[in-house]
Amino acid sequence: MAKTRFSLKTLKNKAEKQLLQAKDLKDLDAIFKKYLGDESELAGVLRSLKNLSKAKKTKLGKEANELKNFLKIKFSEAASALKEKVQKELEAKEWIDITAPGKKTVLGHLHPLTIVSRKVEEILGGMGFSVIEGPEMETEWYNFDALNIPKDHPARDLWDTFYLKNGLLLRTHTSPVQIRYMEKNQPPFRIIAPGKVFRHEATDSSHEANFYQIEGLMIGKDVSVANFKAIIQEFFQKFFGKSAEIRLRPSYFPFVEPGFEVDMKRGDGWLEMAGAGMVHPNVLKNAGLIPSLKGGGWQGLAFGVGLDRLAMMKYKIDDIRLFYSGDLRFLNQF
Ligand code: FA5
Repeated sequence: MAKTRFSLKTLKNKAEKQLLQAKDLKDLDAIFKKYLGDESELAGVLRSLKNLSKAKKTKLGKEANELKNFLKIKFSEAASALKEKVQKELEAKEWIDITAPGKKTVLGHLHPLTIVSRKVEEILGGMGFSVIEGPEMETEWYNFDALNIPKDHPARDLWDTFYLKNGLLLRTHTSPVQIRYMEKNQPPFRIIAPGKVFRHEATDSSHEANFYQIEGLMIGKDVSVANFKAIIQEFFQKFFGKSAEIRLRPSYFPFVEPGFEVDMKRGDGWLEMAGAGMVHPNVLKNAGLIPSLKGGGWQGLAFGVGLDRLAMMKYKIDDIRLFYSGDLRFLNQF
């Protein structure tokens, strides 16, 4: 009896000491098995109770069960402490230094031509023009014939383009969108059509083989050149500021009558910014509208602005080819 009692006390001391030494949950599991498992000394004591006298059984049984419960509590405390320790170690590894300087995210930005295109849409949108789109790959009919430029017309040379194997061509201007829109919509209306255009021509500082235009079209019963003048002046002043100086110069485009060119003052000279005019009656007819030859029909104005030229003037860029160079030293300035 005395021996068992002593051994229970020794057991308690040993278990407590080992519990303190457990480094991780695996250690703890082994110690648990050693002191509380089926093969443990304590389990042996509990199993041997049945062979003792009632008085001894009661006494020793009580002490052994108390030790068992005590150890269980100690184990669960040790397990919690170890789990907390592991968690803390993990947190220490993942620690974030909130005072360290951040890594700068490189933000992209819009291309200058996109910025300009959006600005134009905003200004003309404010004057009641809605934005529409047309295809870059066109038929000869929409790019030329419907715009009053038949096959043998010399203007086809001026607007020479890239002919595709599928019988289509790359549009030389945004004007075909005029026809496409008039075919499907009943006037009065005001639209603008921004987009890419292509020319089979040599490049220089103010000409590219592909560039951008914005087409404008306003059709009504009494739309006149005066409307065009007002719109274009308002547009240039909103886009460049009050000091913008422009001039209208008589010019020829087969799809307008009369026709003009809009130039803007640059240094001592002028830079051609847009073509414009009153929509030619043949063009209205080709799009299925009745022109106002003797009144009563439709008439309207059209213009095609060179977007790249607008950007060149706005940002004082002297070579159009920079827009397409992909040179970050240039692009990062916007
Ligand atoms: C046209 O393309 C006509 N469709 C414009 C028009 C529309 C006239 C409606 C009347 C009515 P033009 O080829 O001139 O016209 O081009 C119009 C504008 O595009 C020019 O004023 C210029 O600003 C720009 N542009 C023309 N060619 C180039 C080029 N190679 N590179 C950059 N910009 C160009």
